[in-house]
Amino acid sequence: MIEVPEAFARGTVAREGASGAAWIAELPHIVDELLERWHCVPDGRVLHGGVGVIVPVRRRDGTPAALKVSFPHPGNVHEPDALELWDGRGAVRLRERADDRFAMLLERVAGTTLAECGDPDTMMTVAGRLSRRLAVPAPPGLPRLRERADEWDDQLHADATEFVHPLPSRVMAVAADSVRDLGRHQPDLLVHGDLHARNILRAAREPWLVVDPKGCAGDPAYDAGTVIKAHLLFLLAEDDLGRAVRRSLDVFTDAAGLDRDRVRRWCQLRAVQTVFWALRHGPGRERAGLDRDGVVALAGSLAELLTEEI
Ligand SMILES: Nc1ncnc2c1ncn2[C@@H]1O[C@H](COP(=O)(O)OP(=O)(O)O)[C@@H](O)[C@H]1O
Ligand SMILES: [Mg+2]
Repeated sequence: MIEVPEAFARGTVAREGASGAAWIAELPHIVDELLERWHCVPDGRVLHGGVGVIVPVRRRDGTPAALKVSFPHPGNVHEPDALELWDGRGAVRLRERADDRFAMLLERVAGTTLAECGDPDTMMTVAGRLSRRLAVPAPPGLPRLRERADEWDDQLHADATEFVHPLPSRVMAVAADSVRDLGRHQPDLLVHGDLHARNILRAAREPWLVVDPKGCAGDPAYDAGTVIKAHLLFLLAEDDLGRAVRRSLDVFTDAAGLDRDRVRRWCQLRAVQTVFWALRHGPGRERAGLDRDGVVALAGSLAELLTEEI
């Protein structure tokens, strides 16, 4: 039976409470059942992200694969749909799915992530090219990002009144405009939904492949918000944050083939939302050691920088 990584168990229980603890207790049995169902044997150390465990396995014919089991949360329902649609183009291949268990058998690639590459321009180029490649027409049945615009609007208003925050009113007004202009009118393209460097893995079939999509439909420039926000943590040491952000936008939008101003506005909105998310929930995972105030200050600086054309 697999041993559930301690940090993963702790994180799940902290976030999900009693239902998280019950699922963690059941997880080794779920993995055993799936190994049997798909005729696989474990083949390496169990990995994890924030919501799922990844068990390296070998299939009956000896092919390496990766078994992923996610916490049963509505946000994790459409991951196999997105991977199925990409069918290996820019993303790992889906070999099998067990929706009853929030589980998938995936093509296994090297464990190295784009986060380890270290060069900001390469990171932005790779993420941009992938964003372009992944933007295929989205079929009905996937959640539409535009349907979240009302919720974003309400949340912005509620946040602005509930929290003492560092954002000038101009920054808040521009974010509200973006919800109206960009949020409500979005194309029906497949959007990864969580495109950051730890979800981009080194591969052989293509140089880099994505994992861990949310699988929603909307504007590919939405993903730029995740890319740039996460990338900011790699730019902390830069003397001139403004210049580094400008450069990231340039390189990303060029590689992605997206309109630069549209990307800037999505990034501004996502940065404002991050400020309030951190005020409400704390710093979140993997924030390069930043505490809540550190995340608020950094995301706030990004939001301000992006409020005007840069
Ligand atoms: N198909 C795969 N092949 C090899 N390693 C993988 C694969 N999928 C995920 N991983 C590893 O597991 C980590 C977490 O996977 P991910 O799908 O992002 O989980 P989560 O949804 O919890 O974030 C990745 O960063 C990567 O290191
Ligand atoms: Mg992940």
